[in-house]
Amino acid sequence: MTFPQRRLRRLRRTDALRRMVAETTLSADDLIAPLFVREGIDRPQPIVSLPGVVQHSVDTAVKEVVELGMLGINAVILFGIPETKDSVGSEAWNPDGVVQVALRRMREEVGDAMVLIADLCVDEYTDHGHCGVLDGKGSVDNDSTLELYQRIAVAQADAGADIVAPSGMMDGQVAAIRSALDAAGHVDVAIMAYAAKYASAFYGPFRDAVDVTIADGGDRCGYQQDPRNGREAMSEIRFDLDEGADLIMVKPAMAYLDIILRARLETDVPVAAYHVSGEYAMLEAAAQNGWIDGDAAAFESLISIKRAGADLILTYLARRVAEALADRRPQLGTGPRALTSAIKELPEESS
Ligand code: PBG
Repeated sequence: MTFPQRRLRRLRRTDALRRMVAETTLSADDLIAPLFVREGIDRPQPIVSLPGVVQHSVDTAVKEVVELGMLGINAVILFGIPETKDSVGSEAWNPDGVVQVALRRMREEVGDAMVLIADLCVDEYTDHGHCGVLDGKGSVDNDSTLELYQRIAVAQADAGADIVAPSGMMDGQVAAIRSALDAAGHVDVAIMAYAAKYASAFYGPFRDAVDVTIADGGDRCGYQQDPRNGREAMSEIRFDLDEGADLIMVKPAMAYLDIILRARLETDVPVAAYHVSGEYAMLEAAAQNGWIDGDAAAFESLISIKRAGADLILTYLARRVAEALADRRPQLGTGPRALTSAIKELPEESS
């Protein structure tokens, strides 16, 4: 019988060895926290299908941003829920619209210490729930929608957004937004393009979070990508980069790790991945039933997304992960809590 000389298990023996050779790490700097801000409420409202996530009032959203900052989270992305919706989503570019008000208040509180990102779309603001203007035949008109996106971009930049993040999947949206921002003097406002965004069933709970129902049982297959297509995602990414995107995003994350990897290989710009509402809800539901270890599964999910090549992750887990990292838990949910339990308190210096 011959024995192997090289034993991969040697470096897996202790938690300290495993930590030393870990190829991938997760830090609060990698995370972008999504926040829902709802107009006309004075206390946070729970979202049933997203346990632990709430619709904030402007006041509680501002407080949350400050707390996230103290936990080491660098960036938030805002979604607005207006009191009134109409056919074009005009509240989205109202200077006194809920996201614009929240951005101004947040900027006052945190200065430049945190990155404020605004999701740029109209679906939360339209009465039909689509991401653009409907033509007479019930489909979304690409080019007239671009004009709305331009107005939103300028309103969000005027209110203090560092980055706008167009999520509507209209062709040419990045170019249209870039030219509108530049014309308004916002040359320093960056664009994070939802470049490879799929028509996904995993967005279900998000639509509860923003009170969106797509009219007439419709869907977004006419503008978001078909889950069967991978090469097409590379076209989306190339178009968005040519049009001036500063960062690109793949969404959802876990079912699209191949796309994240290809995006990483294809480009040099920062790649973000959105661990979306349904991905979070599945983890929570299984954990609440005691079917999986929620913290361990959360850590494994996020580390997989980073291992695939994402630099940044938008995730509803951001606060919990940051809290766990701040606690100096050696590795959230994986293996024995060796460091915190085994290293004894240092003896007090004798005076
Ligand atoms: C559209 C938008 C959606 C999400 C982010 N931006 C929903 C959609 O495309 O239907 C989904 C995010 C999530 O599921 O967490 N403005």
